[in-house]
Amino acid sequence: MCGIVGFTGEQNAAPVLLDGLKKLEYRGYDSAGIACMYNGEISVIKASGRIANLCERTDDGRSVQGQAGIGHTRWATHGAPTEENAHPHLSNDGRFAVVHNGIIENYLTLREELIRDGYHFDSETDTEVIVHLIEMYYRGDMREALAKTTNRLSGSYALGVICTEEPGRLYAVREASPLILGIGIGENFFASDVTALVSHTRNVIYLDDGEFAELTPDSVQIFDITGRTIDKKITRISWNVQAAEKGGFEHFMLKEIMEQPGAVKATIAPRVRDGRIVFDELTIDREILSGIRKIVITACGSAYYAGCAGRYALERLCRIPVETELASELRYSDPLIDAHTLLIVISQSGETADTIAAMKECKARGARTLAIVNVVGSSVAKLADDTVYTWAGPEIAVATTKGYTTQVTALYMLALYFADQLGLAGDAYAELLKALQQLPRRIQQAIDMNASIPALAKKYHKSKALFFIGRNTDYAVALEGALKMKEISYLHSEAYAAGELKHGTIALIEDHQPVIALCCNPHIMEKTLSNIVEVKARGAEVLALTFRNNHKILAEADDLLFIPDMDPLFSAVIEIVPLQLLAYYVAKENGCDIDKPKNLAKSVTVE
Ligand code: F6R
Repeated sequence: MCGIVGFTGEQNAAPVLLDGLKKLEYRGYDSAGIACMYNGEISVIKASGRIANLCERTDDGRSVQGQAGIGHTRWATHGAPTEENAHPHLSNDGRFAVVHNGIIENYLTLREELIRDGYHFDSETDTEVIVHLIEMYYRGDMREALAKTTNRLSGSYALGVICTEEPGRLYAVREASPLILGIGIGENFFASDVTALVSHTRNVIYLDDGEFAELTPDSVQIFDITGRTIDKKITRISWNVQAAEKGGFEHFMLKEIMEQPGAVKATIAPRVRDGRIVFDELTIDREILSGIRKIVITACGSAYYAGCAGRYALERLCRIPVETELASELRYSDPLIDAHTLLIVISQSGETADTIAAMKECKARGARTLAIVNVVGSSVAKLADDTVYTWAGPEIAVATTKGYTTQVTALYMLALYFADQLGLAGDAYAELLKALQQLPRRIQQAIDMNASIPALAKKYHKSKALFFIGRNTDYAVALEGALKMKEISYLHSEAYAAGELKHGTIALIEDHQPVIALCCNPHIMEKTLSNIVEVKARGAEVLALTFRNNHKILAEADDLLFIPDMDPLFSAVIEIVPLQLLAYYVAKENGCDIDKPKNLAKSVTVE
């Protein structure tokens, strides 16, 4: 839940580390720190709050000397977000400093043991045990000390370590937390994410679990716990620096909303050849598919809601039962999953702890796993039998937008592809594929036809609560719309299946209560319309989301959001766009920190 960086080279390390930490701030931003080596000593500077505070304290890094160092941006798990708990942590003898992303599950036992052995602790963190273990095990050989230390740790960790005995040298270790090496000329780096590396180098090495790295300005060596050297391939990153920056928009979230036509196109286009969907990356063939009795989709948060939206297309086209399960629930539910289950795992980051745990649980029960993931080489991608990348590019805003729409698009693609494999697509195939290929244009239309959203946000931003209602896919989108609203604007927002209103929720409707009604499912439009009438009769103000020519809804609603005419089977990807924009502008009216909502982090790598 944190971001780590490391640099060794000719230039002063601190400005490079701070620059990297700014790029990683989305991973955690309650405190930050750097440690640099100079003249045989390690100096550690920390600040609570945003990276900006650390920049101020160090004159943007200029006041800190040393050409090698490590940095950390934190999202607190063990211990409050104070300066003491911020990383890097220093050993008692001052010779070692450590940054850590992840969780050490057995830290309490280790802490007691270390205290008994005379070590003192300056923080409440789980991480601090690591630096004391390194000091305890160091006998002039860092590789040995790291091997002995990691042998004692249970949990997840990406570690960056420096030692005064080895000036200019960085050590990095990965176990169940992301870690990438950046390979430069006369300088080398590590970071939790490539966004911190691309302004320096496009050549990277993805470390795998159990791998250690030793970096100097001129060399990078990777080895395992026994010290045996491992050969790794260098990957060239195609993302450019601008792709990871705001590109003229006020917030990353707005930029990422606007990028959706391109992102969805990138998900679809490479997989269509000669009028057919082709998943070169999949090993699931007709025979395997025929043996699948049910599909279970699992994920967390918006990725879970993407599954809720996509399941309708899968069921409709493939005639296979589809269940959607929150990963945090599935992992502890003793699930009825076997070799006839296809588990579809959805994750933008590919590092969500609950998602990974649910996946492992289902794999152990024999399920075949297919991951829909955005981050290449992430843990979910590595664990899966098959991976479909969404190719949305880096998503920096904490609230996902293009991550969600590309995930739903990938599910639509799979639904049509599987149906084709099973011989069920029939004559509708060409029409459905055409509808899929039109999605990028439809998203752009949905953006263009809702210019009134900033004005609507001015009307609704002071509401005490917002209710989202809909049926079937509209309900699935309502869930994601309500989540977007609450997480960035802090307005209490809830989604209800419209047919459930009279079973309880309608008691909450009073004069001027805003109800956002999603009405994009022609086959049940009349039903949702009657729900609109019911809430209006009790004083609600209805903001309806529908097609431009849907006169019955237009006549009842107080305000309107539109989607273009399209195949309703795939409309979730379009319906969410006006709701993302509404959440964005409401949050802006409320003066919220849109890209970094309070209490949230982009990548939830702990349970
Ligand atoms: C909400 C949001 C989260 C994530 C969830 C899963 O805007 O972004 O709800 O969808 O934490 O994250 P990934 O997709 O990285 O597994």
